[in-house]
Parts: sequence; C-alpha cells; structure tokens
Amino acid sequence: MLVNRRVLTLDEFTIQQYRNIPNATGELSGLLRDIGLAAKRVNVEVNKAGLVDILGDEGSVNVQGEDVKKLDVFANNQFMGALQHGISCAGIGSEELDHYVGFHDEVSKNSKYICLFDPLDGSGNIDVNVSIGTIFGVYRRVSEKGSKAREEDFLQPGINQVAAGYIVYGSSTMLVYATRRGVNGFTLDPSIGEFCLSHPNIKCPDEGRTYSVNHGNFFRYDEKVRAYIDRCQRKTPQEGGPYSQRYIGSMVSDVHRSLIKGGIFMYPATIDRPNGKLRLLYECNPFAFIVEVAGGKASNGTQRILEVQPGSLHQRSPFFVGSRKMMEELERCLAD
Ligand code: AHG
Ligand code: MN
Ligand code: MN
Repeated sequence: MLVNRRVLTLDEFTIQQYRNIPNATGELSGLLRDIGLAAKRVNVEVNKAGLVDILGDEGSVNVQGEDVKKLDVFANNQFMGALQHGISCAGIGSEELDHYVGFHDEVSKNSKYICLFDPLDGSGNIDVNVSIGTIFGVYRRVSEKGSKAREEDFLQPGINQVAAGYIVYGSSTMLVYATRRGVNGFTLDPSIGEFCLSHPNIKCPDEGRTYSVNHGNFFRYDEKVRAYIDRCQRKTPQEGGPYSQRYIGSMVSDVHRSLIKGGIFMYPATIDRPNGKLRLLYECNPFAFIVEVAGGKASNGTQRILEVQPGSLHQRSPFFVGSRKMMEELERCLAD
C-alpha cells in the first residue's frame, strides 16, 4: 500500500499551527494530544466491544437519570485521566460526573485550560454496533492560575470556547476539531496508530438535502417545529428538494454528516421535555462552535446557542444546527 508521507499527523499539525502564533505556549496542542491519546484508547475498546465484557449496563444511573453503560465509564476515565496527567488542563466537567473536577496537582493548577466533555455520545447504540462518539469543548479558565479550577471556569458561554471537537468511532475513526482559525478532520490510521489530516479546512455547505430529527417525537414538538418539518417533506426539486430524512440517534454521527455534506440536525423541546434532551455544555456548545466556524449556524430556537449563559453544569437545551440557509429557513418558521 502506498503511504502518503506528506500527510500530517495531529501532533505535527497542531504544533505547526501554534508556531505561527506569537507567545503561544503549546498548551493547547498538548491538550489536543491528550484527547487524541484517550480517543485511541477508547477506540480500541469500542472496536472489540463485542468480544470483551464491556457491552451492556454498568448497573448505575447517571446524574441525568440515564442508565450508565460500561463503556461510558471507561471512556470517562480515559479522557479524565489523560487530561489530568497532561500539562494543559486545570479541570474537567463530564456528562458522567455529578460535579466538575478541579485537579489538585501543581502542574494542573498552573494550567490554562479546562475541558467539558461527553465521553461517549450515542451510548444507546453501543450494543448494536452503530457509530458512537466523544464531544469536547475547551475554555481558557477565568480563575487565577495556581489555584484549583472553580465553578465559574465551567459555566462560561460557548462563545468563549478556544477549541471544540469530536471523535466519531465509525466505519473509520475520525477526530475533528475547530479553533477560531478553522475546522480540520483527522482519520485514525490504525497501522501506525496516529490521527492523520484527511479533511483540511472543513466548510459546511450553505445548503444540504438532509434533515435529521427523531420523527417518533413529531406530535410532541411545538407546531412551528412541525411546520418546518412539514416544509422539509414537501420540498420540490426547484426548492432544492426532495430532502431525505436521516437519524442515527448518535448526534456525533448525525451532525458530522450535516457538517460534511450539508444538512440540518434538530433536537427540539417536546411536551414532556420542555428543555429538550441534549446538554448545553457537553453537546450543544461544542457542535455550535464547530459548525459556526465552518460557516453554518446553531440556535436553541430563539437564541444563538453560543451566547447562552449557562446556569448549571448539566443543563439541557433545545438544539438546531446545520447549513446556514437551512437554519435561516428554520428561524423564519420559528419566528412566524
Ligand atoms: P448520550 O448517549 O450521550 O446520552 O447522548 C445521546 C443523545 C444524542 O447523541 C442523540 O442525538 C440523542 O440522544 C438521541 O435521542 P433520542 O433517542 O431521544 O432521539
Ligand atoms: Mn451525548
Ligand atoms: Mn454520553
């Protein structure tokens, strides 16, 4: 097999990026390397999940009242461990932990960043061999360096993210991350165990032909959301239709497709869940940041997601994200 020696690895790419920034300390590239390392460890377990005793429920229920899968716990420990042992992260917040964790060793206390993550997204799909993922957002801490990270470091609006990304454990494993400078995607080359730059400078097409929503909840959505879904279904070829509906139930995969090919992903409020299901800090903010940097849009139906001031770690939010023109049509429907 021919190997393209000019393909950059994740480490090479991030180090090159930060060489161009005056006064850059390299801490962010260190943090991304730590995340890459944890992702590779999780990937190994996901790949052999059917063979080892890691499928199924762990037996506990998380702070959100959901069954915790063994792989959720494993992934959480890998990401938390890699970030704690690295030199860039002062603390973490995770969908799987009730409280944020401010690391107490000296190196971590003197680190610049904190990280919020959903260690395993789409965990309901683990047992049936469907793509799952990890989502993360990185913020510069607002508390003083040298002290333990505090709650205010974690409750920042998404606009303050310095980087955000996700990993899809799919037909191939990919890590995609965004900084304000752009969005880049890396595919794991299993033969050398490195993420290699495969999707440089990702742009979200202005329009797509796919909408992604849980149709089972249709009659629990607000009538304006239903009106937009109805429009999606009636698109004529002159209007860019027909649209296809695609919904895997792992938002990492559903939003990844919308980012690369164009499309819209929605998890609206329902009658029984007036704040929707997805978590603002671990799921909505990172994707809102990535898709906006790529040229798309993200909102909670009334407000730009990135401007929402979080009130608590595990708060939920309705979420709409995707191609710019599709989002604008949705916004018009919701405003009518
Ligand atoms: P998690 O596995 O981290 O709890 O997240 C699952 C989320 C998201 O990935 C997906 O889009 C959504 O839940 C699916 O929910 P529904 O089954 O209600 O559509
Ligand atoms: Mn999730
Ligand atoms: Mn999860």
